[in-house]
Amino acid sequence: MSRSVLVTGGNRGIGLAIARAFADAGDKVAITYRSGEPPAGFLAVKCDITDAEQVEQAYKEIEDAHGPVEVLVANAGITKDQLLMRMSEEDFTSVIDTNLTGTFRVVKRANRGMLRAKKGRVVLISSVVGLYGGPGQANYAASKAALVGFARSLARELGSRNITFNVVAPGFVDTDMTKVLTDEQRANIVSQVPLGRYAQPEEVAAAVRFLASDDASYITGAVIPVDGGLGMGH
Ligand SMILES: NC(=O)c1ccc[n+]([C@@H]2O[C@H](COP(=O)([O-])OP(=O)(O)OC[C@H]3O[C@@H](n4cnc5c(N)ncnc54)[C@H](OP(=O)(O)O)[C@@H]3O)[C@@H](O)[C@H]2O)c1
Repeated sequence: MSRSVLVTGGNRGIGLAIARAFADAGDKVAITYRSGEPPAGFLAVKCDITDAEQVEQAYKEIEDAHGPVEVLVANAGITKDQLLMRMSEEDFTSVIDTNLTGTFRVVKRANRGMLRAKKGRVVLISSVVGLYGGPGQANYAASKAALVGFARSLARELGSRNITFNVVAPGFVDTDMTKVLTDEQRANIVSQVPLGRYAQPEEVAAAVRFLASDDASYITGAVIPVDGGLGMGH
């Protein structure tokens, strides 16, 4: 199996682990990056998902090199945590524009090829915080919860076209995004996780790869937690 796979934000963190998992399995993997030197071993396309023109250009590059995207992993995301009374409109809208509208942009563009091919796999990276909530994370939680409604609507809209839409909701994962937390915050989080530790990015990647595999051919509209049990029941 050598499919054309795109992982947004595949240059570091969870996205890089996902990109490696697909590449190790023999797929042709494209990743997006915004600045600096992207990691070797992938087709790296420069793309800020808040810019529709850059998204279009990235898809053209990928299609020229690998053919239409058959598996899309919408992973790129940001946090701008702040208590509500201190949260600026920019703090709110920039997180929505990246995590939700950015996902809309890349999913919509990928679907062009998937509709033509009459098949496709889309996996969105949400968060346990989307359904569990998190103080200081109203913007982030809203954007990640919205991905569930987005994916489930598309699962209903495009199921007959053999395109699946699933969501992976990681708990706390060891990446740059969580490095900003203090030791005290970290200890507090870990104390609430039944498995008693953070996830490694590869543990999230394994769930994503499963959802894009033949073994998951009858799964769509699902939200798969990879959270050590933190979000159980939510
Ligand atoms: N870490 C966790 O505990 C955790 C838990 C649950 C869910 N998640 C979700 O998992 C995903 C990956 O998180 P991570 O922990 O790997 O974070 P990270 O290490 O901070 O990496 C974020 C990635 O998103 C990319 N990105 C951000 N804004 C972008 C934009 N406008 N256009 C294109 N790319 C953009 C970044 O690219 P640059 O390198 O160019 O900045 C980077 O590749 C995110 O959606 C995050 O919300 C993370």
